[in-house]
Amino acid sequence: MSDPHGPIRSYGRIKSRPIKPLQAGLLDTLLPRIAVPPGPFDPRALRPGAAEVWLEIGFGGGEHLAQQAARRPDALFLAAEPFLNGVASALRHIDALGLDNVRLHASDARDLLAALPDASLDRIFILFPDPWPKTRHHKRGLIQDEVAAELARVLKPGGRLRFATDWRDYAGWTLERMLRSGRFDWTAQGAGDWRGVPADHVTTRYETKRLGDCAPVFLEFARH
Ligand SMILES: C[S@@+](CC[C@H](N)C(=O)[O-])C[C@H]1O[C@@H](n2cnc3c(N)ncnc32)[C@H](O)[C@@H]1O
Repeated sequence: MSDPHGPIRSYGRIKSRPIKPLQAGLLDTLLPRIAVPPGPFDPRALRPGAAEVWLEIGFGGGEHLAQQAARRPDALFLAAEPFLNGVASALRHIDALGLDNVRLHASDARDLLAALPDASLDRIFILFPDPWPKTRHHKRGLIQDEVAAELARVLKPGGRLRFATDWRDYAGWTLERMLRSGRFDWTAQGAGDWRGVPADHVTTRYETKRLGDCAPVFLEFARH
């Protein structure tokens, strides 16, 4: 598959097992209705009056996305995920919960970031991104200096970003890149703030598998 970001793909497969008929139907009917528009767009125009605009990058099966969107019907949720089985699963949750405040980008989040205006988001979640633990694969990790700069550009001053991983090196890697962007403060006051599960967190499917080399780490950043 061609990749607009060049040879470096930050994700693995975009389709695995066959998609169940109900979910395949939702890909045909619901996804076109709630897909973000192609090209640059202002999220506030998608849902005028939305109190806030939140973004989840790499939502996997969409459990966290759907639960957060159900909790905050006053907010608009943008969400990006190139793995088609994940998109299909998220559509099932969105349909089952009757959510009308979610808009999906069934592809690379970096394209969605590029399409957003400056300071257009209130909150971003990046939860358990693909770890790429081998050193020669580090460049495939989602968090790179250019991505940190883009995340800062689209977040409003004071906007928040939550990053979670269960890979020790990826936590350090991300902390380093976010802080050296010069645009984020790490809000932790002590170890409990990164080892503890945030009160509003929704456990993700990947998180329950415990595939990493450490307990989940939650890094909370504020854009300044
Ligand atoms: C390890 S999974 C975790 C999924 C989910 N957040 C969870 O915790 O269950 C990482 C996900 O990030 C997605 N991903 C990787 N690179 C991405 C990118 N550039 N844009 C959007 N999603 C991406 C992958 O397709 C995959 O579904």
